[in-house]
Amino acid sequence: MFKYNIENSYFKNILYKNQIDSTNNWAKQFFYSSKKCIDTIFIAESQTAGKGRLSRNWICDDDKQINMSILLYWHTSMSHIQLICILAALSVHNAIKYITNLSCEIKWPNDILINGKKVCGILCENILKENKIYATIVGIGINVNNEFINESISKKATSIFLESKKFTHKDCLINSILKNFYFYYKKFKSSQFNYLVNEYKKFCTSINKTIQFEHNGKLIDALAVDVNSSGELIVKSDYDELLTLNHGEIFYHNIYRNEF
Ligand code: BTN
Repeated sequence: MFKYNIENSYFKNILYKNQIDSTNNWAKQFFYSSKKCIDTIFIAESQTAGKGRLSRNWICDDDKQINMSILLYWHTSMSHIQLICILAALSVHNAIKYITNLSCEIKWPNDILINGKKVCGILCENILKENKIYATIVGIGINVNNEFINESISKKATSIFLESKKFTHKDCLINSILKNFYFYYKKFKSSQFNYLVNEYKKFCTSINKTIQFEHNGKLIDALAVDVNSSGELIVKSDYDELLTLNHGEIFYHNIYRNEF
């Protein structure tokens, strides 16, 4: 069984597997079956059925990537929950920058791009009971040492290795992500929402960009103008109408869609 050298005083319970279907599913099963209510990290060397946002698959069938989920226990209402994805993106952004010195950007809500291509995706899932959140699972997938990217996604995805031409120690990157995550999570817990969003906005390149998104089955062009204190994207349509996006995907010109 592989194990990383993870040194942190924040998350004491770290579980490893060589292979799993999805670390997010593993975290969910743990939530329902374990009596321990302890924040837990799940790390797998490979996943056979990795899940992406918007019901997509996440390709991660070898040991070059980081496949990690963070299970956070709490009892909270739905407000500001989007900020967990925001702080996760910020943590991964800072860790990649710190460990590799590559400059990366955040594409709202939580994709990390290097040279315009996606290197990390984050899938946050909430466990609800009677309209209250009991736990949140933050699934983080990073293309780290991949020498090749699957042809089906190679125009829009990359890896740290392909951008830096250097091998990266996955344990160093995980340590740095967890350190950052814990720092920002404490800010979240003490309701420092504006602080989190202001940090996020420093690296989020969606603001002031012309973007495209799907709304009621139609593609809309708009200018992204801001991210509010709940982590939602404020956009201005061609008719000067302000809209608030709280989930979904936005498209940049030339990235993710060739036609836009
Ligand atoms: C996205 O679509 O951008 C989100 C991808 C999230 C992938 C990660 S890999 C670890 C965790 N387990 C999963 O099944 N998905 C997330």
